[in-house]
Amino acid sequence: MHRQDVLKRLTRQGPVIAPSMLKCDFGRLAAEIDALTSAGAMVMHWDVMDGHFVPNLTYGAPVIAAVREQTGVLFDAHLMIAEPERYLDDFLAAGCDIVTVHYEAVADAGALLSKIREADRLAGLAINPGTPVEALTGMLPECDLVLVMSVEPGFGGQSFQPGALLKLRELKSLVSAGTILAVDGGIGPETIGPCAEAGANLFVVGSAIFDRPDYQAALDDLTAKIQAAA
Ligand code: DX5
Ligand code: ZN
Repeated sequence: MHRQDVLKRLTRQGPVIAPSMLKCDFGRLAAEIDALTSAGAMVMHWDVMDGHFVPNLTYGAPVIAAVREQTGVLFDAHLMIAEPERYLDDFLAAGCDIVTVHYEAVADAGALLSKIREADRLAGLAINPGTPVEALTGMLPECDLVLVMSVEPGFGGQSFQPGALLKLRELKSLVSAGTILAVDGGIGPETIGPCAEAGANLFVVGSAIFDRPDYQAALDDLTAKIQAAA
């Protein structure tokens, strides 16, 4: 799908909840994808970790490519890896609609963002809790999506760090209207509303979906919290 069509799809229905596949049952990956698709998820967020940029390992482009055809849901690859430039082509070839790289992982994130856009995909830039918004200022025009980490990347199930709210507010005043503001880490019924109020419009959610038996109910409850906060 073309970048502009993906952007339209992401923005036309209001806030988007993206299940974080890090928290799914990998032994039943195909069934998990089907369950999320039926529950109405619009985006699946794939946490890619290399045991180097973050102290955990997950999966790479071959796994994403293997399941790409199983669903029409948009795929967002969150690359928590060193030297993302070495693997970028693989994630593009795997059919990721959004590719998000970490500011801290590359010397020149701007060049990578341009490359993602040249491939007609959405370019995302993530920042760790310790990175100030000011570090991104010059690159914001190159970003289709800015991802504020509200935990140290590496593991699901951590507590939300409220400093993310301040960053979302700051970013909201800096980015153009079409830019997606995403937040990732510790997002659940208590924290999703404040994030929506602070300006987030895409919410990455792991535990608060996968720890519940009914994904549709989890998505509906979280959506209601966003609407109540608006
Ligand atoms: C953490 C990942 C997150 C994480 C979210 O490094 O980027 O996507 O899996 O999981 P929860 O919602 O449990 O914090
Ligand atoms: Zn993530």
